[in-house]
Amino acid sequence: MNPRSFTLDELCTLTDLPRRTVRYYVQIGLVPRPAGETRAARYGEGHLAALLRIKQLSADGVSLERIREVLDGADAQPLRVTHGAIAIEALDFAYLDTRPVFAGLNLRIPGGQKVGFVGYSGSGKSTLLNLLLRLYEPQRGQILIDGQAIASATQESLRQQIAMIPQDPMLFHRSLLENIRYGRLDATDDEVIAAAQQAHAHEFILETEDGYQSLVGERGVKLSGGQRQRIALARAIVKNAPILLLDEATSALDSVTERHIQDSLAQLMQGKTVLVIAHRLSTLARLDRIVVFHHGAIIEDGSPAELLARNGHYARMWAMQAGGFLPEDEASAASAPSTQD
Ligand SMILES: Nc1ncnc2c1ncn2[C@@H]1O[C@H](COP(=O)(O)OP(=O)(O)OP(=O)(O)O)[C@@H](O)[C@H]1O
Ligand SMILES: [Mg+2]
Repeated sequence: MNPRSFTLDELCTLTDLPRRTVRYYVQIGLVPRPAGETRAARYGEGHLAALLRIKQLSADGVSLERIREVLDGADAQPLRVTHGAIAIEALDFAYLDTRPVFAGLNLRIPGGQKVGFVGYSGSGKSTLLNLLLRLYEPQRGQILIDGQAIASATQESLRQQIAMIPQDPMLFHRSLLENIRYGRLDATDDEVIAAAQQAHAHEFILETEDGYQSLVGERGVKLSGGQRQRIALARAIVKNAPILLLDEATSALDSVTERHIQDSLAQLMQGKTVLVIAHRLSTLARLDRIVVFHHGAIIEDGSPAELLARNGHYARMWAMQAGGFLPEDEASAASAPSTQD
C-alpha cells in the first residue's frame, strides 16, 4: 500500500474536517480531484497540505477566492534546493484590507546562513515565515529559493524543503508515533524514537498510557504547549529539510528543558539555512546574523556583535533584557532607560 495516500475518512480524521466540507472543496475545485473510483478515492499528501492550509486561512477569515489564488498554479514546477539561499524582492503584503505589513521589503539570505529575526510584537516576523511557506500570497514582489520563485513551485516540493517549528504546533488526531513520522513518512520506528530522544520528548511519551501508540486529541492524550513543541522538534529532526524555520520554537519550555534542547537544536541547524524568531535574545547570540524589524521594515542588519557595538535598537533591547525577555511593546520600551543617550 502506498503510505502517501489516504482515504476520505483518514483525511477527515487528520484534518478534523467533516466529509461534506472536504467533498465541497473538491467539488468547487479548491483542492484537486482524488485518484481512484469515487468510493475508493485516494487522497495524497498535497490534499492534506491544501486542506490544512484552507482550514487555517478560512479560520483567519480569508475568502475562498483568495484561498484559491494561494494554491498551486497549473504550470507549477518542483522546487530544487541546492544551497538554500533565500531572496525576498520588493515584497508588498497586507492581510485582507488591513494596513500593509510589508511595503517593498528586500532581504537576501545566503545558503547556510543562520539568521535571527527580532522586533516588537506585530512587526511582521511571523508573517514573513508565513509568506515563505506560502500560507499567504504577496500582493507584489517575490520570494526566491535558490533562484526559483516559490510562487511557481508546487506546494508539495516547497513544503518538503522547509521544516517549521511554530510557536503553537498543531498535532493530528493520530498516535504520537505518527505525529512525529509526519515529518518524513518513510522514517522507521527507530528513527522516530531517536528523534524523540533528541527532542527530549521520549521521556514524557513513555509516561503516557500507550507510549508511542497513544492517540493525541480529545479521545487521547492532551499535551501541554511545551510537549507539543518537543513533538514538533522531533518532527523537524526526522524531516531534516535544508531550510529550517523556528518561530518561538522553545517559548513554551521551562529553562531547564530549553537548555537540554539547545544542543539538539544546534545539531539540527548544522548545514542548513535557518531563520529563528526569538524574544529571548540570548538564544540569538550564536547566530551569524540578526535582522531587526520595525513596523515591517528592516532597521538593523548585522552580526550580533556588530549590532551590539552599533548601540542602536538591538543593543537597547539587549540592555533591557534583564530577565531575558523583550518588553511586550514600544510603550514599555520607551519608558525603559536607553543606552543611546
Ligand atoms: N491572520 C492575520 N490577519 C490579519 N492581520 C494579521 C494576521 N496575522 C498577523 N496580522 C497583523 O500583521 C502584523 C504583523 O504580525 P506578525 O504576526 O507577523 O507579527 P510578529 O512580529 O510575528 O509579532 P509577535 O512577536 O507578536 O509574534 C500585525 O499588525 C498583526 O496584527
Ligand atoms: Mg509572531
